[in-house]
Amino acid sequence: MIPDPAEFTRYDSVWRRAEPFMRARKNDIHIPLSFGWAARLLDVYPDADRDICLLAILLHDIGWYSIDLERIVNEGFRSDNPLQSDVRFLHELEGVRLGTDVLCDTGWSDDVISSVCEIIDGHDTRPHPKSLNDRIVRDADKLWRFDVTGITVASDWFGMTPHAYADKLAGEFDKLETDYGRAWARDALEKSIKSLFLHVL
Ligand SMILES: [Fe+2]
Ligand SMILES: [Fe+2]
Repeated sequence: MIPDPAEFTRYDSVWRRAEPFMRARKNDIHIPLSFGWAARLLDVYPDADRDICLLAILLHDIGWYSIDLERIVNEGFRSDNPLQSDVRFLHELEGVRLGTDVLCDTGWSDDVISSVCEIIDGHDTRPHPKSLNDRIVRDADKLWRFDVTGITVASDWFGMTPHAYADKLAGEFDKLETDYGRAWARDALEKSIKSLFLHVL
């Protein structure tokens, strides 16, 4: 199910203000797809805060804009411990800095800005989520990779074949935070494996 963008016009000014930062590392593919997953998760976890989760997923990776693509790929994806690499911490810090500017310029309150930035800061590097909102954003950040588009894009980041990357994803269901997230990841990966003929390729 793809969310209808017309339902989310509330965030149009944020998308427009953040648009230049989306033109890095395929953020302009990852972010809209993960935004859609966040919207789906919010429908089944109504206790989470919609504004905080949707703004956090929209802005969580804009900090990659400040880092050279070769460094992103070599250190942030293909190194020994990529989730604890310097560039991972740097993209979180830059995400907080740029995200604060975007949210100030588009009129959000100090409370919203601090809650969103609390999620962005450490979204890849902190071992544990701090709240339900944080868990929703973490799952939305991961779920897009289980679809064909995510496998297409992220297998390149990791320098892997689609088959090898799908095998890696099959070992990562436990990294999802919510029951729905885990179920949807399994379902999406199963469909992707069939679509991409990964039983032979
Ligand atoms: Fe990230
Ligand atoms: Fe991300």
